[in-house]
Amino acid sequence: MRTLISVSSLSKRYRLGLKEKQAETLAGQIGNIIKSPWQNLKRLRGLNRFGQEDESVFWALKDVSFEVKEGEVLGIIGKNGAGKSTLLKILSQITEPTLGKIEIHGRVASLLEVGTGFHPELSGRDNIYMNGTILGMTRREMDSKLDEIIDFSGVEKFIDTPVKFYSSGMKVRLGFSVAAHLDPEILIIDEVLAVGDFEFQKKCLGKMEDVSKSQGRTILFVSHQMEAIRNLCSKCMLLKDGQVIATGETNHTISKYLGSYQFSLRKEFFDIPNASIKWVAIDPKGIENGEFILEVCFESSRHVQYPVVGFVIYNQLGAPVFGSNPRFHKEDYHPKGGKKGLIRAYLKELSLHSGIYKISVWFGDGLNDFEHHEDVLAFEYLSPNSYTQKPNPLIIGSFDPMVTWEAETF
Ligand SMILES: Nc1ncnc2c1ncn2[C@@H]1O[C@H](COP(=O)(O)OP(=O)(O)OP(=O)(O)O)[C@@H](O)[C@H]1O
Ligand SMILES: [Mg+2]
Repeated sequence: MRTLISVSSLSKRYRLGLKEKQAETLAGQIGNIIKSPWQNLKRLRGLNRFGQEDESVFWALKDVSFEVKEGEVLGIIGKNGAGKSTLLKILSQITEPTLGKIEIHGRVASLLEVGTGFHPELSGRDNIYMNGTILGMTRREMDSKLDEIIDFSGVEKFIDTPVKFYSSGMKVRLGFSVAAHLDPEILIIDEVLAVGDFEFQKKCLGKMEDVSKSQGRTILFVSHQMEAIRNLCSKCMLLKDGQVIATGETNHTISKYLGSYQFSLRKEFFDIPNASIKWVAIDPKGIENGEFILEVCFESSRHVQYPVVGFVIYNQLGAPVFGSNPRFHKEDYHPKGGKKGLIRAYLKELSLHSGIYKISVWFGDGLNDFEHHEDVLAFEYLSPNSYTQKPNPLIIGSFDPMVTWEAETF
């Protein structure tokens, strides 16, 4: 297989406080992209390699090297700020690298931040034509694709409205549809799909699968949705603080990423002045047995009439799975007031799919919330009810109540 993308020792330096000059509209990018298929070597000398020149200098990518072969679907994962979007912007020639070399063979269509790639004053239809022209397509080719693009985007009602009046979801819909239908050799998609609604996300993932499997196109795909990465990508690369931590088989890379979370089952706040919560903890034994026991120890300078704790559990996408607070429930909860105490929440069955979860905790007196700690604890849960114990397929959600199945056959 031909190597379509080859990146070596790529680094990107930002100066904090200085906004990069970027092409805001597609028209501004035309100058760059029109060179496709291109082969571009860039070497900038005379810059210190990652030396902390001064505090205003920040390396968003450090010495990144990898190759992508024709037909490969490369997933790129990593925490917020890891450098994923920066990498995609460089590959799409929207931003210049500071150091290093990239070679790309083939036409690139990319969907990066919401709205890039569109001229706001032009209608959706005109923008489709403009994008096609940039990718080197003829008017005739465009005419034959137009209906399909509009149809897939689902914005036909607004196709003659200027794009500046589109919602962000509508822009993403049209942007994806254009990028995926213009037969680029290389398709680059950033997280933006998450802006679209659930149904459209599913449709896009299906389309990408089609583009890669049936048309043999090369895709670079950034996502925080591990299930989407797992389904779609043949290879996966993990970025951390601008560096490549792992590349290779998708499941292996995902495990490395998930394993890099700091699991903390207990957090102390003893040295924080004025904090009422002294510590919070979940019982590790409980978690192992499919139970959930959360304990919050408080100590306040004043008498707390009605000490009450609330918590929310979030899945690895940051979506709340469920939360509880005795104020929401009819159940008996009649604590005695006091200055110190231990509050315990007990859940007999956690009913979650296997996965990684985080917890936020509140403490208050029933009228006011005194304290709120986001993502104070994190744990990995391996469901005793699950057959495989593999991390949860988030596409079906995180909640896993015991369902009784029956079948009758005729
Ligand atoms: N124009 C810029 N000027 C200065 N710093 C920037 C600029 N663009 C990005 N950065 C910084 O570079 C780092 C990497 O950002 P990037 O957007 O590539 O992260 P990411 O991996 O895409 O994160 P996310 O998952 O949140 O999308 C961040 O610390 C960010 O603040
Ligand atoms: Mg990003």
